[in-house]
Amino acid sequence: MNGHRAGARPLVDLVAGARPNFVKLAPVARALAETGCVELRLVHTGQHYDPNMSDAIFSGLGIPRPDVCLEVGSGSHGVQTARILERYETLLLQHTPAATVVFGDVNSTIACALAATKLGIPVVHVEAGLRSGDRSMPEEINRILTDAIASLLCVSEPSGVAHLRREGVPDSRVRLVGNVMVDTLLRELPAARCTHVPGVAALAGRAFGLVTLHRPSNVDRMVVLRQILAVLVELSRSLPLVFPVHPRTRDMLARHALDADLRASGTITLLPALPYHQHLSLMASATMVFTDSGGVQEETSVLGVPCLTLRESTERPVTIELGTSRLVGRDPGRIRAAFRDVMAGAWPPARPIPLWDGQAASRTAAALVAWLGESSGAPADSAARPPGSRSADDTR
Ligand code: UD1
Repeated sequence: MNGHRAGARPLVDLVAGARPNFVKLAPVARALAETGCVELRLVHTGQHYDPNMSDAIFSGLGIPRPDVCLEVGSGSHGVQTARILERYETLLLQHTPAATVVFGDVNSTIACALAATKLGIPVVHVEAGLRSGDRSMPEEINRILTDAIASLLCVSEPSGVAHLRREGVPDSRVRLVGNVMVDTLLRELPAARCTHVPGVAALAGRAFGLVTLHRPSNVDRMVVLRQILAVLVELSRSLPLVFPVHPRTRDMLARHALDADLRASGTITLLPALPYHQHLSLMASATMVFTDSGGVQEETSVLGVPCLTLRESTERPVTIELGTSRLVGRDPGRIRAAFRDVMAGAWPPARPIPLWDGQAASRTAAALVAWLGESSGAPADSAARPPGSRSADDTR
């Protein structure tokens, strides 16, 4: 069965597998539903399956229940990617969509893009073009490969357009639409500010810093993780820290009994991975955030909260140029210096980032509907080029 059926609305798959995908999918699903032009099928690969990493985010953001769950679970990169590829291909063969929309840079992104492309189903990549330049990051490989096979590339910041052009992607496939994650943030912020976060009562009314850590390069090797934690324990004596722990990091802490050490510090509060609103609530009221997450660099930039990015590179340079992020790596001296700058009030304020305005999902939806119309031979919807969106040509 083909996704373009005479007289029927084209079927579009929205695929998500990991926590950051869900936050990006929510506004795009809503905006696409509002166009009334497509039929949506929500596919959850099951890459993230802990309730706080998945179900709580779905229900918290009002995302409809997935139509299909592939339930792939954990595994090595090869195993996880292969399982998704195999199971998604089976689904595609049973009921073929007109297009597959993938988000971000996780294993689910490349696996589903590859399954679709090999069957001749066009792929739309939301958050295309980002590059850290660091090929040791699994996410960087996922980004490069997904962009190489996607038919429509929706980009969140200007650096993405430049990278795609350098890699030979024709401008006609590229749309600079802005950041859909920011749509979710702006929509959910009022609710988040009223959200109770269990386990942090002792900090009520006090200044605190927030920590998130999960990159393999920071948490998979004991010597590196210990070095980062040592400086965080030291700084927590001046500013108490709250640390919601990602499952990957939780396993490492438990394996080496480091969680007990952190609790014993008395100045670091360990929490499980948090539902979206609780995490946003903490981020919005933190004095500063220590993170290795890409999404958190973006979110703190919009919130105006100083962000000490525990990495040597970022695929999101606009968060440094206009936002609040500074790369501090994991060098204790650089982390301490940045900490002192924040505490002294010497951190540059955030400036507005173009197209991070809460309307990126409607620009994405309009671009997708127009492109579907063009690729099926039907005349493009006149509303398809949304106000404020730019083709890559406009950004020269
Ligand atoms: C993945 C993404 C990363 C994204 C991050 C957000 C890839 C390559 N990485 O990293 O880009 O920033 O999600 O969270 O796709 N686990 C659980 N419960 C869960 C999920 C994972 O216990 O719900 C454990 C498993 O033991 C698993 C490990 O965490 O082996 C890592 O999970 P995985 O999906 O491989 O990558 P993340 O580190 O979460």
